[in-house]
Amino acid sequence: MKKRFVSMAMALLLGVSLTACGDSPSSGGADDTKTQDDNADQGAEPAGGSEAAPSADQDAEPAGDSGAAAGGDVANKDKPLVWFNRQPSNSSTGELDMAALNFNGNTYYVGFDANQGAELQGTMVKDYIEANIDSIDRNGDGVIGYVLAIGDIGHNDSIARTRGIRKALGTGVDKDGDINSEPIGTNADGSAAAVQDGTIEVNGKKYIVRELASQEMKNSAGATWDAATAGNAIGTWSSSFGDEIDVVVSNNDGMGMSMFNAWSKDNNVPTFGYDANNDAVAAIAEGYGGTISQHADVQAYLTLRVLRNALDGVDIDTGIGTADDAGNVLGSDVYKYSEEERSYYALNVAVTGENYQDFTDSTKVYEPVSKQLDAGAHATKKVWLNIYNASDNFLSSTYQPLLQNYDDILNLEVDYIGGDGQTESNITNRLGNPGQYDAFAINMVKTDNAASYTALLSQ
Ligand code: BGC
Repeated sequence: MKKRFVSMAMALLLGVSLTACGDSPSSGGADDTKTQDDNADQGAEPAGGSEAAPSADQDAEPAGDSGAAAGGDVANKDKPLVWFNRQPSNSSTGELDMAALNFNGNTYYVGFDANQGAELQGTMVKDYIEANIDSIDRNGDGVIGYVLAIGDIGHNDSIARTRGIRKALGTGVDKDGDINSEPIGTNADGSAAAVQDGTIEVNGKKYIVRELASQEMKNSAGATWDAATAGNAIGTWSSSFGDEIDVVVSNNDGMGMSMFNAWSKDNNVPTFGYDANNDAVAAIAEGYGGTISQHADVQAYLTLRVLRNALDGVDIDTGIGTADDAGNVLGSDVYKYSEEERSYYALNVAVTGENYQDFTDSTKVYEPVSKQLDAGAHATKKVWLNIYNASDNFLSSTYQPLLQNYDDILNLEVDYIGGDGQTESNITNRLGNPGQYDAFAINMVKTDNAASYTALLSQ
C-alpha cells in the first residue's frame, strides 16, 4: 500500500511538472508511463467507498460494487471498457469492429470526428494558400507544390486527414467510391496514379496544385506516426525538389514539427499539422502554418467519464450531456455521440495565426468539466489504461497529462501502461491480472487487434 502511494505521489508530481512544461518532447510522458507502470505489479487492495447505485439503463451490471478489493467480484468480461484514440476497425477497409465495440453493455469508444477534422485541415491549408498567393509559389513556376507526411496507412484518422487535404486541394482521385489515401512516393511530373494535379484560381489567375511526394512515416522497427522518419524524409524531399516545395502538410504535429525544425522553418515554408500540441501552437508565431485541435481536453475527460459512470451505475450521459452532481456538463458544440457506433466523438477546431493564443496550453482541463467529484458518493476505483506507444508525441505530451488531471477529478486511480508502438503483446503481456482492476481503457497498437484484449478479459 505504502509503495503505491509513493508511486502515486510521484506520478502526481510528474503530472504537475508535465502540465507546467507540456511543450516538452515526448520523453516526459514516456518516463511517467514507466513510473506508473510499476503499480501494475502490485496486488489487489481495498478500494473502499460506498455501495454503487443500481444501473438504470445498462445491460451489464454495475461494475462498481465497491467495499471489496479493487476489481471486486465482478467478472472481468462485465467490467467497463473504453477504447480510445484508435477505434476498433479493419485497418484495410476501415469497417468498425462492432464485436469489440459491443464487448459488453459498458463498452464505448472515445475519439474525435475524423471527417470533420480532416475537412477543417484541408480548408485551413487551402485558405492559407489563397490568402498568401502572391508569395507562396517560391520558384514562380505556377505550380504550388506540397509534400505530405502520412501517419499510419491503416489508421482511420490518418486516412481521413490524407483524404481531407487531397479533397480540398483538388488532388484526390477516386478509389472504390472514396478518395484514394495511398502514399505516392514521389511525383515530380504529376504523373502518379494515386493523385492528380489540382487547380486553384485566385484573382483570375490559375495555379496548378501538385502533391510532389507523400510517404507513411513508419520507422524500421515498425512504429508509425514516426517524427524522426518525417525529419529524414523532408531532408530527402528538399534535396530533390528544393524550391518546388511551397507547402508542407502532415497528418500530425509530431511529424509536422520534426519537418518544420529540420527544414521548413529556415526556408520559410508554411507547415501544417494536427493535434495542437503545445510546441506546435507556439511555433505558429515562428511560421508554422497551423494545426487542428481535436479537443483532447474533451476526449480525455470522456475517456475516463464513461468508465466513472459505468462504475457508479448511473446513466451514461451523466456529466456529459446532463450535468452531474458537481455541475460538470459538456455542450453539443464540443462532442457528439453515436449510439449505433457506441462512440463519442469530440469536435475539432482549426488553430491558426488568428486564434492560436487561445490554445497555448493543450494540457489544461476543459473548464465546464473541471469540478471535483465527491469522494463519498464516487468512491475511488482502479483503472488499467494503456497507451500504444509511450513515445507518441500527441498521446504523451497532450493526452496523458490531461488524463492525469481528470483522474483526480473523477476519483479514479489509474495505472498508465506505455507500449512500444510496435507489438501488441508488449502491452497485453502486462494485463496478466485484470482481476485487480475495476475498469479498462485501451489504446491498441493496431486497430484490428481488439480481440487480443477482449480474449484476456473473457478468460
Ligand atoms: C493523433 C496522432 C497520434 C495518433 C495515435 C492521432 O489522433 O493525431 O498524433 O499519433 O492519434 O494513434
